[in-house]
Amino acid sequence: MTASDYATAHRARFVRELREFLRFPSISTLAAHRDDVHRTAQWLADHLQTIGAQVCQVIPTPGHPVVYAEFPASVPNAPTLLFYGHYDVQPVDPLDEWTSPPFEPTERDGVLFARGATDDKGQVFLVIKAIESWLQGAGTLPCTVKLLIEGEEEIGSPNLEGFLQTHRPQLACDGVLICDTAMFAPDVPSLVYGLRGLAYLELTVHGPNRDLHSGSFGGAVVNPANALARIIAALHDDAGNIAVPGFYDDVRPLDEQERALIASLPFDEEAFQRELGVPALGGEAGYSVLERLTVRPTLDVNGLWSGFTGEGAKTVLPASAHAKISMRLVPDQRADRIAQRVAEHIERIASRGVRVEVRMLHGADPVLVDRESLPMKAAARALEQTFGRPPVFQREGGSIPVVSHFQQMLGVPVVLMGFGLHSDGAHSPNEHFHLVNFYRGIEAVARFLEELQRGA
Ligand code: BES
Ligand code: ZN
Repeated sequence: MTASDYATAHRARFVRELREFLRFPSISTLAAHRDDVHRTAQWLADHLQTIGAQVCQVIPTPGHPVVYAEFPASVPNAPTLLFYGHYDVQPVDPLDEWTSPPFEPTERDGVLFARGATDDKGQVFLVIKAIESWLQGAGTLPCTVKLLIEGEEEIGSPNLEGFLQTHRPQLACDGVLICDTAMFAPDVPSLVYGLRGLAYLELTVHGPNRDLHSGSFGGAVVNPANALARIIAALHDDAGNIAVPGFYDDVRPLDEQERALIASLPFDEEAFQRELGVPALGGEAGYSVLERLTVRPTLDVNGLWSGFTGEGAKTVLPASAHAKISMRLVPDQRADRIAQRVAEHIERIASRGVRVEVRMLHGADPVLVDRESLPMKAAARALEQTFGRPPVFQREGGSIPVVSHFQQMLGVPVVLMGFGLHSDGAHSPNEHFHLVNFYRGIEAVARFLEELQRGA
């Protein structure tokens, strides 16, 4: 039986197993879920064992464990592929906006709803099922496949660089595959050749040593919430540029060929706006919406709190105000350098009546991958065979911290071939994965393994 026939014949069981995987609340950022995260890793390792992994380990790190497995090729001199994915997920709040509970996977009209369905458990699982389909269906595997599935991607992969350093010989490979991105549109397969980086800061503005009556003290004491609002407002100018000195110094200019490639993608700005329910789109003057979303850097407030936010009115001058601020970065910006520049600028512009404290939470460097590498070409052929049309090449606005480490440490080509959709609700309530994309993902990855072995 071919791998593809096996995958088709076992679809129903594959989905049942995926539901089991999705039931684990593996929220990496919440300490209360630490044991759940560890249990997920163990379940995953057990599953890999049952489908025939020859090496299969749950490897502890200072944080959450890494699941590592090896499936050797059945043919001599076959290439080795390293697959990277993550089994951790984002928090689920606001919980009351979910139609069905986030960790009770529910299928409605061919769509599976659960936290992690598209980001990234569903996509990790389709790779595992592609391997199983080769092994159990065809009885052979065209490539050696090593799997590295981590539990800390959603918190910036703080322990993965160290892990790669200590396990480098074991991770030797001819190429890396990552399925943790989106397709450009439904039925439009995509190969992603660039990801933005990220620098994430938490800003605290300290004012008086306690909350004060705003009548007795307001007017003479600088209000940290007002001061924070002024700081945030000063971080952009009226044209939508980031007003931090030196912020754009390392941004590599876009060449005209790439702008033409981006402009050729079938993107409808009006439909995008309509779907989001906003009265107008915003951003940096001089760039298209798609450019603003993928190849230009950003600075955004992710969270903001201070003072009294309960029902009704309380007259209070708060002691402190807080913001979480992230910058999406593009080549050749560096997360550390940008974080430092922004922090220094905030300290410079803050009112003298308050004290600011800036802490870097995490970072990731932006990446570009080679569009012409052999694995990339193999991926393009596999996608064309599966979808009946060649993939588009695009850059993505999101970040995957480990990619820059792979490039530096392993020095092999990386393929970013994802099967999600931007409308799948990653990080949002009602996250879901279209099962048709789960099936097509299995098919595409199965074909990719064969095309990789075939070479140029
Ligand atoms: N799957 C995403 C990465 C992604 C997002 C790719 C959007 C393409 C489009 C990944 O799980 C993710 O969310 N990464 C974080 C990284 C951060 C926590 C360092 C992100 O981009 O916010
Ligand atoms: Zn994510």
